[in-house]
Amino acid sequence: MRAQKYLMENADESLRLDLKTDDDVTSRQARWAGIAPGMRVVDIGCGPGKTTSRLGELVQPGGSAVGVDLSEQRVEFARERYGNDHTSFARCDLLKPLSELGQFDFAWVRFLLEYHRSNCFDLVKNISDILKPGGILCLIDLDYNCLSHFGHSPRMERAVAAIMKSIEEKENFDPYVGRKLYSFLYDLGYQEIDVKVEAHHQIFGELKQVDEFNWTKKVEVAARNSDYGFDEYEEGFEQFLAEFRSFFADPRRFTYTPMISCSGRKP
Ligand SMILES: C[S@@+](CC[C@H](N)C(=O)[O-])C[C@H]1O[C@@H](n2cnc3c(N)ncnc32)[C@H](O)[C@@H]1O
Repeated sequence: MRAQKYLMENADESLRLDLKTDDDVTSRQARWAGIAPGMRVVDIGCGPGKTTSRLGELVQPGGSAVGVDLSEQRVEFARERYGNDHTSFARCDLLKPLSELGQFDFAWVRFLLEYHRSNCFDLVKNISDILKPGGILCLIDLDYNCLSHFGHSPRMERAVAAIMKSIEEKENFDPYVGRKLYSFLYDLGYQEIDVKVEAHHQIFGELKQVDEFNWTKKVEVAARNSDYGFDEYEEGFEQFLAEFRSFFADPRRFTYTPMISCSGRKP
């Protein structure tokens, strides 16, 4: 598998991911998937390490967590902020063999597979290879990513759809990966598979600062990386972004994103 640049790469990415990550949600999802004290855990595509830190706490006493990510900057951020005697970080490309990391009891893969549309199943197989037999694989991702807003203008609706289509084709992004997770575990022969569907974003009324920062960055970076020409906007990209900001700040808008969690035990 060849290396691929990360669609959301930008100077604020560690901060964006750190701010939007809710420790209580991480704990709830990891407990649902079966995390337990004493386990050795790998956090695949750990970003700034906040999730690794929480997973490391959940496996005490006796367990440990290793967060892995391609980005030197995010791994540094993670080490500085969250490294301790049971939580460590390593830089690695998940598209390459991972055997050097050793074997794990639990693998956490959240919000990573959406960046690997065409090679998603190969990536899951690669991760599965570092799980012990009986180990738990927990896949969590979004469905209809960025495509469930209401209250924007028809031209903005067309623009958002065109941006998403473009990054699907050009950047290997998958806005619909959530619905595919179950089939990955099924096809690998996983046992005791369980699936849960819930809302990740559910935004109505007054806009919280954390949602404003996260969504403005998401839309700005994805739109810049797309091939969409912004033809319907006389002043181009900046006008589109301004219209998105004002739509999103309006308390009448409604935005939600389905999140699908899927967990199973390696045979
Ligand atoms: C959205 S963040 C995931 C955050 C975290 N997993 C969570 O649960 O909130 C996606 C991360 O995957 C990393 N990533 C994407 N492709 C990768 C690859 N091929 N190898 C290693 N890391 C990768 C990115 O650098 C980024 O930090």
